[in-house]
Amino acid sequence: MKQPGKWWKNAVVYQIYPRSFQDSNGDGIGDIRGIINRLDYLEKLGIDAIWLSPVYRSPQDDNGYDISDYQDIDPMFGNLEDMEKLIRKAGEHHIRIVMDLVLNHTSDEHPWFQEARKGKDNPFHDYYVWRDGEEGELPNGLRSGFGGPAWEWVPELGQYYFHQFSVKQPDLNWENPKVRRAIYDMILWWMDKGVGGFRLDVIDQIAKEPDQGITGNGPKLHEFIRELSRETFQKGDLITVGEAWGADVERSKLYSNPDGSEFSMVFQFEHIGLDQQEGKEKWDLAPLPFLKLKEVIDRWQRGLYGCGWNSLFWDNHDLPRIVSRWGNDGTYRAESAKMLATLLHGLQGTPYIYQGEELGMTNARYDIGDYRDIETLNMYRERISMGYSKKDIMESIHAKGRDNARTPMQWDDSPNAGFTEGTPWIKVNPNYSVINAASQVDVPGSVFEYYRALIRLRKEYPVFADGCFQLLMREDGDIFAYVRENGESRLLVVCNFFGRSVDCPLLKEWKAKELLIHNYDEAGPGTMLRPYEARMYLHR
Ligand code: GLC
Ligand code: CA
Repeated sequence: MKQPGKWWKNAVVYQIYPRSFQDSNGDGIGDIRGIINRLDYLEKLGIDAIWLSPVYRSPQDDNGYDISDYQDIDPMFGNLEDMEKLIRKAGEHHIRIVMDLVLNHTSDEHPWFQEARKGKDNPFHDYYVWRDGEEGELPNGLRSGFGGPAWEWVPELGQYYFHQFSVKQPDLNWENPKVRRAIYDMILWWMDKGVGGFRLDVIDQIAKEPDQGITGNGPKLHEFIRELSRETFQKGDLITVGEAWGADVERSKLYSNPDGSEFSMVFQFEHIGLDQQEGKEKWDLAPLPFLKLKEVIDRWQRGLYGCGWNSLFWDNHDLPRIVSRWGNDGTYRAESAKMLATLLHGLQGTPYIYQGEELGMTNARYDIGDYRDIETLNMYRERISMGYSKKDIMESIHAKGRDNARTPMQWDDSPNAGFTEGTPWIKVNPNYSVINAASQVDVPGSVFEYYRALIRLRKEYPVFADGCFQLLMREDGDIFAYVRENGESRLLVVCNFFGRSVDCPLLKEWKAKELLIHNYDEAGPGTMLRPYEARMYLHR
């Protein structure tokens, strides 16, 4: 087996949601040329790779996570030549391109599915998951992730097909070796084009056994992933990251096994699901449990030390903005955005920054007519019909809706934030006149410059990549503090997570050490931490 390169242990990845990043032709939708135009900005920030949400040909039922051709670019985003140019140009800026692979399902408009539904003896029929049945009598009660049943009736066939997401996203049948081979060939084709890695969409759901009611973490999951990795990724020097909502520490040791047999790492969501009621849906809000957050991060940091690898993230295109969630998007927006960045970027793992996070972009609070996301809109209809009040539903959407992260990137204070000269596909957050890149790049004290500095620190001090983790002040209700240590140096990270000043006695012994970074103009005297104050000290 080829010994996999480990460049990604020192890398910082930036996620781009293409339709909301930069429009180049005035149609209101971000595109590949737009990204190329912004490579200078990304190089300045200092990131090593871009994870690009899907740009493949797609009817866009789920914004590109419904792919109808894996080997072509959707005209909305450009064409293959643009994509090749992006890979090349990004390389000139020392940035690798990480593609998003959606392998659990295709679009129902993919030629495979078009063929599959032509007849039970069509060679592509078995590319998908079918069950015989009677109209109206579903094979079982499994539900789709976007509401409604996970089974869709096809009258011509007298069969149901299985879909864990929308009806336009039929699940692929991974039991079929032809499906797997076709997928590997497609991946090798992209590797040939020089991509730097892959993010694997809902990868923990590929090994489904619907008759057993199994969707995530199926019995054959790791067997499939090891074959996938062997046949593709291991032939290159890639970063690979699986999206695994159902991952725990033990399973993640397999996923991120240092022998390279599966992926480089996975996105796990334990720290993300904390503000939802036990056993309910994400829309059923619960208060943020601070001590639990510490417990979760501590467990993952220690659990994967030396035997796996963490991905570190607060935000992505499916999640609300972190500054509106764990921070304070009013008075202390900049301070809390920087504090949250400090906490995350001090940990062991590969950090991911979601577009706009480096500016401290916030959630949007729109009325229902301004939302675009299929998940939000389906939930709204479903809950209205179940008798929920509109007020409660909107509160959930404002807190958790995926469009919070999908509003256009805020470049400057010109109309539509410099995102487009046309009409944006989704409304720009009205706070763009205050929160935008132009007012932050090269401006000392800005959130952008703070992220930049954090990235620089990670590259400068090996302790960020290899130090072991020790949580301090475990029971403290205000301060998140930890130490990283690698035998040569000790790094202290202290973060006040709330809007009141608190004493941090620990600082007594550290104050004489080297202060690497802090989020106020001056590190105050004494041992008090101001609202959302964060500091990093180094002891050599
Ligand atoms: C992943 C994606 C999400 C998408 C879903 C179905 O969770 O991140 O955006 O809707 O998979 O592909
Ligand atoms: Ca465009």
